[in-house]
Amino acid sequence: MNRPSLFALVAVPLLASSAWSQAATLREAATAAGINFGTATNSNQVRDASSAYATIVKTQFSMVVCENEMKFESTESPIGTYKYGGGDGVAAFAKANNIKLRGHNFIWHSQSTPAQSAVTDRTSGLKVMHGHIENVGTHFKDDVYEWDVLNETYSGGTRSLWYKIGADYTDSALSIARKVLGTSAYLVSNDYGADGVNSKSTAILAIAKGWQDHKVPIDGIGFQCHLGSGIRKDDISANIKRFGDLGLRVSLTEIDITNSKAADWTNLMNACLENFNCVNFVTWGLADGNSWLGSGCGGCLLYSGSSNSAQPHQDIIDALIDAMKKADPTIAAKRKAFAALPPGSLGPGTVIGLYDLSKPTAHRGKNLSGLAPMPVFSTSTGGVVDPLGRVKSFAPARINGLEILTP
Ligand code: XIL
Repeated sequence: MNRPSLFALVAVPLLASSAWSQAATLREAATAAGINFGTATNSNQVRDASSAYATIVKTQFSMVVCENEMKFESTESPIGTYKYGGGDGVAAFAKANNIKLRGHNFIWHSQSTPAQSAVTDRTSGLKVMHGHIENVGTHFKDDVYEWDVLNETYSGGTRSLWYKIGADYTDSALSIARKVLGTSAYLVSNDYGADGVNSKSTAILAIAKGWQDHKVPIDGIGFQCHLGSGIRKDDISANIKRFGDLGLRVSLTEIDITNSKAADWTNLMNACLENFNCVNFVTWGLADGNSWLGSGCGGCLLYSGSSNSAQPHQDIIDALIDAMKKADPTIAAKRKAFAALPPGSLGPGTVIGLYDLSKPTAHRGKNLSGLAPMPVFSTSTGGVVDPLGRVKSFAPARINGLEILTP
């Protein structure tokens, strides 16, 4: 063996290990696995982008969500009077740091005081709903990647103020959101207590299937994941999978795990990593002292302290990064191709290939994911759903430079 090849033997592992160590942050490791890693924040915490808190957020996270400032009573009070200062602050921080923004939320029974008296029946309810989604949605249209159009719908039931519109108020909200937002944002229904396989998540699954069957626009389901220690990976993974079987994205949207240990976090992360349709992993606040649970948090987030004094729970963060580094590359590739499908294009069925039309002709035949066939989604009839939720039948579908071939 001569010198150059000896050098090569040494050099290759060195190169490999330096590429490996590049995934040193949660953000980098998540990006490699095709997941957006997020946290809830408030605009005052990120106004000074050089603060200790903001520095952690922009280094470790690739997604943010307003903890309160995009809710009904924060954006519209009284009815017809809009204010966006808080949301704009978080949106500007996100944009400046190449961070995706979740919108939380349009339609909820809580923190919606002005709507409470204004919504008295179907007519007034639809008017208020339309005005709110149209104004707030349009204002943040260029900023928001994914909206919780519906929040806690299945816990609200008849007690939701929106129920005065009728049991189909959820369908109206989703349809209005698609009309206002077009394909600029994914539309999500977000709920708590539905993280594993249980009667509530089973009901949500049936409702989501009903939306698809009736062409009500829905892109994804949010599981809030307000959890306690003792996370059951297989249960949560099986739940995420059955929504994936319908072609729905899943976002874990408000994660906190009371009295958590590293194994709880890796169990939850692995439930996500095992499923190509699990695309967002978002913690509800940065540090334990910021948690809405107060003293009940008991170590429920990834940092101790609060805001500018936040200190990493390093063992948990290291374990999460390690779990993400070990993500199955086949599933990660599939997740990236799936997540690249634009809003409004999903539904049950099978897509056999995704082709990048911007590439030279020679590469056109190259399946982006390297997999075929690939259970990603158009509709069961081989079409796609247009921005208003109507099925369009054309094959191949071409959206945003991706050619989607259906069988
Ligand atoms: C919470 C916020 O964290 C608190 O600051 C606020 O006082 C009440 O709302 N489910 C949701 C979130 O969808 O919007 C809630 O956020 C927590 C439960």
